[in-house]
Amino acid sequence: MYIYNKDMKSVEKEQLVVNWNADRAEKNGYDHFMLKEIHEEKDVLRRTLGEYVESVKTFLNKMPDMSKYDKIHIVACGSAMHTGMIAKAIFESYAEVETVVEIASEYRYKKVFYDERTLVIVVSQSGETADTIASLRKAKEDGIDTLAIVNVVSSTIAREADNVLYIRAGVEVAVATTKAYLLQVAMFLLLNLKLMYERHKITSQKLSEFLKLLKKSPDYVEKVIAGEKDYFAIAEKIYNDQNIFFIGRGIDYAMCLEGSLKLKEISYIHSEAYQAGELKHGTISLIENHTKVIVLMTDRDLSLKTISNIKEVKARGADIVLITRQELDSDYDFVSEKVVLPKTDDYLMPLLAIIPLQLIAYQVAKLRDCDIDKPRNLAKSVTVE
Ligand code: AGP
Repeated sequence: MYIYNKDMKSVEKEQLVVNWNADRAEKNGYDHFMLKEIHEEKDVLRRTLGEYVESVKTFLNKMPDMSKYDKIHIVACGSAMHTGMIAKAIFESYAEVETVVEIASEYRYKKVFYDERTLVIVVSQSGETADTIASLRKAKEDGIDTLAIVNVVSSTIAREADNVLYIRAGVEVAVATTKAYLLQVAMFLLLNLKLMYERHKITSQKLSEFLKLLKKSPDYVEKVIAGEKDYFAIAEKIYNDQNIFFIGRGIDYAMCLEGSLKLKEISYIHSEAYQAGELKHGTISLIENHTKVIVLMTDRDLSLKTISNIKEVKARGADIVLITRQELDSDYDFVSEKVVLPKTDDYLMPLLAIIPLQLIAYQVAKLRDCDIDKPRNLAKSVTVE
């Protein structure tokens, strides 16, 4: 193959072999790419963890040195920004590193307070989102260190960031991201362990235990996905609703953001995620008889507060769908529908709680006969402002 420049001079270009063959992008028997990609989550998670956590030594070599930073900015759009919200909760509670999450379309134009001890992390499945690229270039122009968490190899963001961590989710065809979102969260869980280790919050022994725990996460993901028919039964109860709320506290609120976006973008039902403790400051006026409220309750320290928020909306007529975990389960008589996640370490919850929400959103959209893989008005990568 010969490549010529505009002056018809032969030029050498690096060749990149994209080993995606047609059948890999086929639906492998699933009705939609989105469902296929949710069912791939356990395998792609196992593969990526295998690359990064083969041993403590491999892990420490693969993860970037972040010892000099005392503040982290995470900049992204949509679901990628939602993974940043998960990372903020994790980085601040475990590694005790101040973390700011910013929407890229705002960050690129605003006054930003950062310095040589700030790391800017940009997150992007496609690596081609215009606002995220612009935010990356702004940080680089200001001489700030940048790290990219990306899926598509050699994409613009991957090439221009100072450092890149590939999530290796493989081809994600459905516009609504699922497996890439999950692997971005997994990558943040790994980064957090590096932050903790560099700050002597954990010993090598404890680090090894965390890595072993993460290596087991694909088995838990598989177990949660196996509950598909229960989630589909919940979808049967809500697919005709016009307004659905997702509420939670702390990291559960961060997951509500993603659950709400999944539902909105493929089923066209209006929904919003709300901090459970904030509802009473106005928005609770929207709750009326049979308003559906999906509650995430996985954070043990905040569960009693979340339960009191459930009772607030229940008292105003709401129908409650509760996503909780075995350790917090009880025969709550104020709950109409319930998903109980398997007993496991808190650290894995951000990987598990989102799966029922992905599958509920999928089935609601299917029952509404929506174009699940290509929702109206949306593109897989927003390459324009
Ligand atoms: C996710 O389901 C959406 N398709 C959208 O929010 C997406 O996450 C956002 O546009 C960012 O895309 P990126 O990860 O490719 O930068």
